[in-house]
Amino acid sequence: MTFPHAAPDPAVHTPGRTAREGGPQVRPIGTITRGTTGHNRLRRADRWVAAVYGRLLRAHDAPLVVDLGYGASPVTTLELFDRLRAACPAVEVVGVEIDPERVAAALPYRREGLSFVRGGFELPVGRPPVLVRAFNVLRQYGEAEAWAAWDTLRARLAPDGVLVEGTCSEIGHRAVWVALGPEGPRTVTFAARFTGFDRPSDLAERLPKTLIHRNVPGERVHAFLRDFDRAWAACAPYRSFGTRHRWIETAALLARDWPIPTTPPLGGRARWRLGELTVAWEAVAP
Ligand SMILES: C[S@@+](CC[C@H](N)C(=O)[O-])C[C@H]1O[C@@H](n2cnc3c(N)ncnc32)[C@H](O)[C@@H]1O
Repeated sequence: MTFPHAAPDPAVHTPGRTAREGGPQVRPIGTITRGTTGHNRLRRADRWVAAVYGRLLRAHDAPLVVDLGYGASPVTTLELFDRLRAACPAVEVVGVEIDPERVAAALPYRREGLSFVRGGFELPVGRPPVLVRAFNVLRQYGEAEAWAAWDTLRARLAPDGVLVEGTCSEIGHRAVWVALGPEGPRTVTFAARFTGFDRPSDLAERLPKTLIHRNVPGERVHAFLRDFDRAWAACAPYRSFGTRHRWIETAALLARDWPIPTTPPLGGRARWRLGELTVAWEAVAP
């Protein structure tokens, strides 16, 4: 696979000193897992991060963003870098990966503002990140480990920082992610390509590890997805105007009973028209 920024950059800028650059040697926290990744599979989450947290990034002089567990190739880190640079030209991105071979494979793609380092949940970067993205990483851990990883990562964030942890389908047509601040989880976002599902609860297969085993009767996330499907069915008449229109009407209907933001940056037509829906974490928490 070739990438747009394939030329090795000898004048690499690495934001802050890492463990491998002279600090104490720290054993990375975590386990090497499957490295599946793919071009553009995280596009929906990147777009959401830029829209919802772009202002946060711009409020910092040189905001540090970590892409944790980028996989067998750094393609999604390169895409994140480009998309966030468009929203915040001063952003610096570090890809952190626990597999040393995958770090070695990524090094030729370094450039000013973009670097790669071996590490795990301890995040061996020189200063607290304003944003950490971890996609398709925790699904390969146990549920208890996923909760513990959330705690570890939240503790590493800048005081106003955010962790975006999620899961998506192979080519990114179905995705679910949670945004967490240092204080805890804030929101859950469902995102889908309009041709990528029959009913909203099809996205349940992509729930983050901390929620996926809770999609059973009696749990809030199950009730939410049940109501999401009911609203979708009730809005079937809008089908004739297109699936996008039906999704927007479904979101508006669901927002009558569930804490769904209806204004930007998290909600309203501008987000819903993209096939997104964000709900407050408390509403679906186990
Ligand atoms: C399935 S790939 C995901 C790649 C990319 N984020 C994506 O969504 O396309 C998961 C990667 O996370 C890495 N990983 C697992 N645990 C990790 C940890 N604790 N710290 C850093 N990387 C980790 C694995 O080695 C693997 O390369």
